[in-house]
Amino acid sequence: MKVGILTGGGDCPGLNAVIRAVVKKGTRLGYEFVGIKDGWKGLIDGRVEPLPASRVSGILPRGGTILGTSRTNPLKKEEDTKKTIENIKALGLDALIAIGGDDTLGVAARLFEMGINTVGVPKTIDNDLSGTDVTFGFDTAVGIVTEALDRLHSTTESHHRVMVVEVMGRHAGWIAVHGGMAGGADYILIPEKPFDVQSVVDVVEKRRAEGKNFSIIVAAEGAYPKEAGGMITKEKELDAFGHARLGGVGEFLAEEIEKRVGVETRFVVLGHLQRGGTPTAYDRVLATRYGIKAVELIEESRFGRMVALRGSDIIDVCLDEATAKTRTVDDELYAIAEVFFG
Ligand code: F6P
Repeated sequence: MKVGILTGGGDCPGLNAVIRAVVKKGTRLGYEFVGIKDGWKGLIDGRVEPLPASRVSGILPRGGTILGTSRTNPLKKEEDTKKTIENIKALGLDALIAIGGDDTLGVAARLFEMGINTVGVPKTIDNDLSGTDVTFGFDTAVGIVTEALDRLHSTTESHHRVMVVEVMGRHAGWIAVHGGMAGGADYILIPEKPFDVQSVVDVVEKRRAEGKNFSIIVAAEGAYPKEAGGMITKEKELDAFGHARLGGVGEFLAEEIEKRVGVETRFVVLGHLQRGGTPTAYDRVLATRYGIKAVELIEESRFGRMVALRGSDIIDVCLDEATAKTRTVDDELYAIAEVFFG
């Protein structure tokens, strides 16, 4: 059995843990592995490397992906789709494991329809894939946000300032809600709930009236004020999957708060820090469980499936179901966070 592995989309702590688990388990079953470089781009260009068990030794704690990644969409141009399928055949791949978010897995779903034996592993620090309860990388990102908020508390308090902390989360505010709750934020803004700038200002003023003369606001990058009518973007150009680069809500809000409340306000964009470095123990274990399950699916010839976490069980779901919709923050969880905004 010859199996290709690729990692696509934004990188994420735990990718190497999946690759390691897949290769170690599969090698014991006599499989041969091929690492595809830089996501789907490597399949279009035919850039691969052999992946013996020795290559994956020692990579468990490493962030990023040893295979490289890209946001290339091989289905965008007909010639790229053709090259992708030709290369899969030329490489003699019996199966292909795609580790990625909704874009990468959406491609895996379409390739399965075209006769390629794909298996998906869900990845994104945003934790917004509908087919699984948790994606690996999320726990690490939340830990980084929490630590950042702890550190920002001391400097914000010392200067009696307001600090707006912009975190990742394009369409779903999971990182903002979990990180903000764990880090004791005074307000949490998420893409699911367009906000009123004045309601944030009111909370800041209320805190000061109560005698707490500093505030920390967490805003997901996809959060936006109702009056803006849409997300704040860095540039108008879209990537191969049609996404704009987000960013700017933190700066916007900091300016508004300073103007309306008249207190010194700063903003911090945590950005790619949230995706860098070693995965937490939770993410290493989840990624390892996903990798093992992916090989089991291949062993059982169950393709067009994605491994997933449901409760505490590792299960598998149809790739189409997995990528059908964005899993957004539920009202119940946000209501708990909201208790602390009043
Ligand atoms: O999709 C995951 C994510 O981390 C988003 O939260 C963020 O908007 C995006 O990737 C950033 O992507 P890039 O690495 O291309 O800047």
